[in-house]
Amino acid sequence: MSLSSSTQNCIRKNEPMAMHTWFQLGGPALYFAEPENVEQLSEMLGWAASENLPVKMLGSGSNLLVRDEGVHALVVSLVHPHFCDIKVDGTQVIAGGGAKLGRVVTTAVHAGLSGMEELVAVPGTIGGALRGNAGTTKNDVGQWTKSVKVMTELGQIVDRPGEEILFDYRKSSIDEPIILEATFQFEEEDPRQLAKRMQKMWIVRKSKQPMGHQSAGCIFKNPSGLHAGELIDNSGLKGTRIGGATVSDRHANFILAEAECTASDVLRLIELVSEQVEQRMGVELEKEIEIW
Ligand code: EPU
Repeated sequence: MSLSSSTQNCIRKNEPMAMHTWFQLGGPALYFAEPENVEQLSEMLGWAASENLPVKMLGSGSNLLVRDEGVHALVVSLVHPHFCDIKVDGTQVIAGGGAKLGRVVTTAVHAGLSGMEELVAVPGTIGGALRGNAGTTKNDVGQWTKSVKVMTELGQIVDRPGEEILFDYRKSSIDEPIILEATFQFEEEDPRQLAKRMQKMWIVRKSKQPMGHQSAGCIFKNPSGLHAGELIDNSGLKGTRIGGATVSDRHANFILAEAECTASDVLRLIELVSEQVEQRMGVELEKEIEIW
């Protein structure tokens, strides 16, 4: 199957993925696409299927480690403004799959809509946030999700009501490859109160987590009733280093990558942390970040 020239123009070959992830690590994607509309998106899904090429959706690259050898896939990014729109409609906010979660949070707060303000500073796009049910220890995006518009592998667009979707800790039952749009339902509240709460959360988050470093947020999920960060800390692993990868001194569930770091350094450090926590604390940690 051949692609139309407009769709072809949105696809690049051997794109370095380090440019697209917060870790700034990893080899190239065989194909990398930034479609400009749903028609191009659907066309490229059909093309990838005909070429037997896996499709991988990139969010904001904040929860992702790409291996040094790169990705044999069509990596799709919904950064085009067509997929990033955010609209307020009464007590609902409708956001494109490529919109940043942080922008949705601030839009809701400014419109006097409460719910998501606690999620300030949680990175990622709406698509990534819904797929992994991003959130804090208390709240997650799933709880305000009224409906989600997805694209199937065959390029069909389907609306899925929120109550049909199962949201659990850092996972959801959405299994279609592409999240195009989501509608969130909030409650009305004084925007000044909301802004105050949001600022307070931002300060708390900033005091606990490393910011402005090459990292990917929390590496491991919290095991039921426990905190991965605390387990890693109590295993004495803060500051542990392999090559250019270090366990953060500020929050032990973060790995920081320095200039000379490779994806393989990070992978080896993740392995070491898992082994040590299992040996010392008797707890098996599950990775939160995606590894391609
Ligand atoms: N703690 C330690 N040592 C550390 C880090 C944490 O003892 O090095 C202890 C803290 O003192 C606290 C407990 O662990 O008693 C929990 O720490 P924190 O409040 O930082 O929460 P968390 O469970 O580590 C979760 C999310 C974060 C989210 C914060 C916001 C997960 C895996 N992590 O962290 O999400 O920002 O809550 O409250 O669910 C992410 O998902 O990438 C992420 C960073």
